[in-house]
Amino acid sequence: MTTVLVATVKPFTPMAVEGIKKVVSEAGYDFKLLEKYADQSEFINAVKDVDALIIRSDKATREVIEAANNLKIIVRAGAGYDNIDLEAATERGIVAMNTPGQNSNAVAELAFGMMVYLARGFYSGKAGTELKGKNLGIHAFGNVGKRIASIAQGFGMQVYVYRPTHPEEVGEKDGMIFVGSAEELYSACNYVSLNIPANEQTIKSINYELLTKMPVPAILVNPARKEIIDEDDLLRVFEDREDFAYLTDVAPDCKDVIEEKYPGRYFFTPKKMGAQTAEANINAGIAAATQIRDYFEKGDTTFQVN
Ligand code: 3PG
Repeated sequence: MTTVLVATVKPFTPMAVEGIKKVVSEAGYDFKLLEKYADQSEFINAVKDVDALIIRSDKATREVIEAANNLKIIVRAGAGYDNIDLEAATERGIVAMNTPGQNSNAVAELAFGMMVYLARGFYSGKAGTELKGKNLGIHAFGNVGKRIASIAQGFGMQVYVYRPTHPEEVGEKDGMIFVGSAEELYSACNYVSLNIPANEQTIKSINYELLTKMPVPAILVNPARKEIIDEDDLLRVFEDREDFAYLTDVAPDCKDVIEEKYPGRYFFTPKKMGAQTAEANINAGIAAATQIRDYFEKGDTTFQVN
């Protein structure tokens, strides 16, 4: 019988698990669940006989993939698939997918939660500032970037957009200003939100040169991946610019230095929680299960990423 394993260190909300189970059982497959596992070896053991795998930020390494003798499809219930060894999956003929857009509203709302928290002095009661009228730069215009843009317009912010995949798209559209380079974006905006994936082109690409272009005060918002930041440069910017603040889901490796030296200029979530809402879990989890069913039943590879 076809078996679908949901392996999540950070569990989905129970309603999402129920929804996944329902899609899987109605399709006539077996459902297996491994949550909150303490060690990667438990994950490796659990994948041995399964045909399909649903994960979140769980690390589908070469070792995991090679241990999964029957595996045909891995679906990352979420956007970023930098946690899947795509080369290993492709070598074994395993289809890898994500579920784009399903959790983007949750991520976008968290970005604003962090911005308002900082702007209002961490709810200390001291006079803060407002988002209205400020320039917000959106670095990449995928599902999260688009959602952030629309919420920002609700706040009355002026939205600037840089699309690394379409740098030729410049000019004004729908009240937003599209610019042709990252340099232009950072030069124009007090707030910049990073909405790029972590890959060979983007890892450590947010550097001193870009961050020092931002006008005073500069607030960098990272609801994406910590790996896209050059952390040596980040610390240099913190040191050189007293006006610079960093809001991120999740903490950088240099967290201890920032916490010790730059109080009041940062906020880090305790663990990655951008997509950690009931709605996002339900949307992404059920989409993952449905994509697996449609792949087995119809050969549908719409969201394949390898
Ligand atoms: C994503 O890439 O979809 C987000 O980072 C969410 O990750 P999570 O499912 O581990 O919360």
